Amino acid sequence: MGKKSFGSGEFSGIASTPLRVDPERIAPLTAGGRELPNNLVLAPMAGVSNLPFRLIAREAGAALAFTETVSAKALVQGGAKTRRLLASSPTETPVAFQLFGADPGVLAEASRILAGEHGAVWIDLNLGCPVKKFIRNGAGSALLRDPLRVREIAAAMRAAISGTFSVKIRTGWDADSINAPEIARIAAAEGVDLLTVHGRTRAQQYTGTTDRATIARVVQAVPEIPVLANGDITLPAHVFDMLRETGAAGVMIGRGAMGNPWIFEQTLALARGESARRPSRAERRATIDRHIDLMAASFPDRKLLAANLKKYLAAYAKGMRGSADFRRHILESDDLDAILAHADVFFAVPEAA
Ligand SMILES: Cc1cc2nc3c(=O)[nH]c(=O)nc-3n(C[C@H](O)[C@H](O)[C@H](O)COP(=O)(O)O)c2cc1C
Repeated sequence: MGKKSFGSGEFSGIASTPLRVDPERIAPLTAGGRELPNNLVLAPMAGVSNLPFRLIAREAGAALAFTETVSAKALVQGGAKTRRLLASSPTETPVAFQLFGADPGVLAEASRILAGEHGAVWIDLNLGCPVKKFIRNGAGSALLRDPLRVREIAAAMRAAISGTFSVKIRTGWDADSINAPEIARIAAAEGVDLLTVHGRTRAQQYTGTTDRATIARVVQAVPEIPVLANGDITLPAHVFDMLRETGAAGVMIGRGAMGNPWIFEQTLALARGESARRPSRAERRATIDRHIDLMAASFPDRKLLAANLKKYLAAYAKGMRGSADFRRHILESDDLDAILAHADVFFAVPEAA
């Protein structure tokens, strides 16, 4: 699958496949009476979708970002680590706080705490996480096998949430139990305002390809609420393909935005009839510098900062000449100064000739 190589100052993120743009598919999105300026959102990603990354995505044009998933139980018990996960800023309003759990009462109580103490105006329920620890506790995608409990949880959370309430699901537990349309109908009947579907089963984890046909069936099953289609969007072209093939109201982008927040503004530019410009080397450098500053403000502990920063820096390097060496160097290092020095050289902007 010969990779096309761009110059070291360029970003290899624009479609090489034929691009079909449907400008009308990029539009404001209304959920629970709240209007977002467009229908491109950043996915919840544990260890990734922290406040700095959410701000970077929004500054690049995402209309909404979801937080890392937060344990409802830990929130109710008031854990310190959980508080850090809940850090937010007025500049990212609205932000969708994502909760996971299995107990309707605890999830409802956590929703009340989020609204009351953290000013949450949008709360999302995680019914998609495939990780064993979640499944063992009956949370995340384990709930896809228990529609009755989904109904109970959705009802309890709906009663506790006066703002926007959304749910994120997978297509089903495994290939023999694809039930996303059924779960979606239950959620909609209980008053959920928006639904996201990651087009994979729990069994697939992150393998295989996104099942757009099932996402389309979900869209048809719940015409009364907007559906966000999610999975494998790494290029603006994929946004348009996904929207066309599923009829979804919008898209959620996860891994494809890591190291490439420009995917949002490129998609918006295409929808305006402009070209999807690659960021210049200087523009990319400016975004990375800002991201580093935001990270430094969020992670006062240098060790934690180093551990968290390097994954973003490695992602920003993807597709650039020499990125493999750069990634190896920084991923192996725990030393913040060394990581920053490497990044300074690697992302340097050459003096104008
Ligand atoms: C590192 C990582 C962490 C994730 N954490 C969460 C999470 O906390 N909650 C959730 O609903 N989904 C989580 N996901 C799933 C993503 O939100 C998304 O559904 C999935 O990655 C597919 O979209 P993508 O191909 O655009 O990345 C995570 C995915 C990744 C890669």
